[in-house]
Amino acid sequence: MFYYEQDYDLVHDNTFGIHANALYFVRYTDEQQLADAIGWHRSEVPALPWLHVGSGSNLLFLDDFPGVVLRSEVKGVEVMQSTDDWVLIRVGGGMEWDELVDLCVSHGWHGLENLSFIPGQVGAAAVQNIGAYGAEASQYVVAVECMDLSDASARRFEAGECGYGYRTSVFKTCLRGRYAVTRVWLRLNRRFVADTSYGGVADMLVSQGIAPASATAGQLREAIIRIRRQKLPDPAVQGNAGSFFMNPVVDEACKDRLLALYPSMPHYPAGTGGWKLSAGWLIEQSGWKGKRLGPVGVHDRQALVLVNLGGATGMDVAGLCQAIRQDVARLFGVTLVPEVNFIPDVLLTNLSF
Ligand code: EPU
Repeated sequence: MFYYEQDYDLVHDNTFGIHANALYFVRYTDEQQLADAIGWHRSEVPALPWLHVGSGSNLLFLDDFPGVVLRSEVKGVEVMQSTDDWVLIRVGGGMEWDELVDLCVSHGWHGLENLSFIPGQVGAAAVQNIGAYGAEASQYVVAVECMDLSDASARRFEAGECGYGYRTSVFKTCLRGRYAVTRVWLRLNRRFVADTSYGGVADMLVSQGIAPASATAGQLREAIIRIRRQKLPDPAVQGNAGSFFMNPVVDEACKDRLLALYPSMPHYPAGTGGWKLSAGWLIEQSGWKGKRLGPVGVHDRQALVLVNLGGATGMDVAGLCQAIRQDVARLFGVTLVPEVNFIPDVLLTNLSF
């Protein structure tokens, strides 16, 4: 048995706080309810598109959504296997990610501390491979359980089949929109090693009177929460979706050309022979930090974050996105790619250069 709502306002289901109506909205609490919803879709409204949302912390609605929006309420954490060194857990895709991190820290299951306070659900974390302060979800994901939205069949993807990379996976690319993530399997360490190597983390611990090398998991989590609170606006106060753009990866020649002009430009090896630049730095240098364009603006402490200053539409945000992209392209010859998912995403093509 499942329930749907019709003409449902998604304003509380996207952290930008933008009004957009879903033709149908379905919440499911277990696999059976999701399978029932898929059966109903097949027999009653087969032509309508699906959209699976999490907490809406990475979404930008440009218009109403003329289809079926799904939201997981599948919760719960099960211990599947446990050794002296690690624990294997199976987590409902609808659990809030930070609730999971908190629970893991309190149980002595380690690895996720640096990923503290990231908004969103566990399922979405596995889809977009969330990352922060030197850690990525994919380091801990062992497998992802999914349900096929066309026929309700279950499929389990081992981590190696997920195509993980910087902020990406097969669920965002070639398999986009095909599956709902129902459960995520994670392997966490029993031994805690504080990773304080990312800029600012050690400084924050020291400012709290804690020697970085002897920080406990709880102290590291608190330090990460403090850093995020300082830099990132609270969506409950000011609508936003965290980093709006991905950090661009460029080739060696591009990095060298820009470094010759801007010797202090932050740049990091991207692993694949390329170089990752800081979108926040590029946006700040192009003069947009703290600026506004109508009802939207660029956050004054982290230029990667676009904010709804009140009453913005998705198109207002998209307009600011485009103005920034054009300036960064003109000044640096670098194309910024949004990390946020535009709904409908077809418009993104029209918004490109
Ligand atoms: N920078 C600026 N100006 C800015 C912002 C950043 O010059 O306005 C420079 C900083 O000085 C630093 C570099 O850019 O040298 C990196 O900045 P920061 O450490 O703030 O990280 P980021 O690369 O801008 C990424 C993630 C964040 C994550 C942080 C910390 C992406 C797209 N974003 O931002 O993720 O919290 O690293 O690990 O990779 C999110 O996804 O919503 C998010 C906030």
